[in-house]
Amino acid sequence: MKLAELKLQFFKELANLYPKEESRTFFNWICQQQLGLKPFEISVKGEQTLKDEQLRFFEKALADLKLEKPIQYILGKSYFYSMEFMVNEHTLIPRPETEELVSMIIEDNKTHPRPLRILDIGTGSGCIPISLAKHLTHAELYAIDISKDAIKLAKENAMKNQVVVRFGEIDILKASLLSNLFTKVDQFEVIVSNPPYVRELEKATMKNNVLKYEPQSALYVSDENPLLFYEQITKLAACHLKTNGRLYFEINQYLGDQTKDLVINAGFKEVEVIKDTFGNDRMLSAVR
Ligand SMILES: C[S@@+](CC[C@H](N)C(=O)[O-])C[C@H]1O[C@@H](n2cnc3c(N)ncnc32)[C@H](O)[C@@H]1O
Repeated sequence: MKLAELKLQFFKELANLYPKEESRTFFNWICQQQLGLKPFEISVKGEQTLKDEQLRFFEKALADLKLEKPIQYILGKSYFYSMEFMVNEHTLIPRPETEELVSMIIEDNKTHPRPLRILDIGTGSGCIPISLAKHLTHAELYAIDISKDAIKLAKENAMKNQVVVRFGEIDILKASLLSNLFTKVDQFEVIVSNPPYVRELEKATMKNNVLKYEPQSALYVSDENPLLFYEQITKLAACHLKTNGRLYFEINQYLGDQTKDLVINAGFKEVEVIKDTFGNDRMLSAVR
């Protein structure tokens, strides 16, 4: 089959599911990965005949897209903070709002003297500590997650992006102390987390690509106790952050006030809720 014919078929079969621009982006990304073509080359190379294995990849991708599988899982990669990250069914696809959290941490800490030990709790693909390591080159990065499979991929992402991050596996809901996890380090200048925070009741407004494919354990919390992770992380931070150390959270936009109260009641100062570019309460920063 020729590339031009495949393109026609691709757009036709996705027409009822995705806006044309989105289908174009999917097609461009697959062409880039499978054929090494840049978007402007795709129409020029319309007469190119695809090899059997390339055609099979496109057909499988098309079938998966019809089942609303995210393109990032189909290609096994995503972009975050201008870096490429491998993703799979064990890791959340990094979100643009988390890039805003990373920007804020870089800005606040770029002149922080050494040591600057930063711990990321619930690291997933490792997108937060890896981007911080790239931009805060004087920092030492540590990251933990409950998922062995996520940690495995995060380690590969750190190698791929040529940074050093020390990873550990831990269930923070059961841990009351982080001691012994990283040899000789149990106090940090910065703790950051983007923990699970989507309530069950919010599922009704979410799309299938998230509901069906992204890891449940990365996203959801009960309606009854939605701030469970924030409670536990704030408790851990009270022990493991140095005095004047900073705590950063990505938060549920509907629970900004409650999250702020929780952190204030745990004794933190300078507690601020910060809006993302869409005007939603999305980040929180505080000082121990
Ligand atoms: C919302 S995802 C964030 C992933 C990544 N930091 C990001 O921003 O894309 C939450 C992460 O917390 C991890 N997690 C869930 N429960 C946990 C627990 N009890 N202890 C440690 N990590 C946990 C999940 O495996 C998941 O990787």
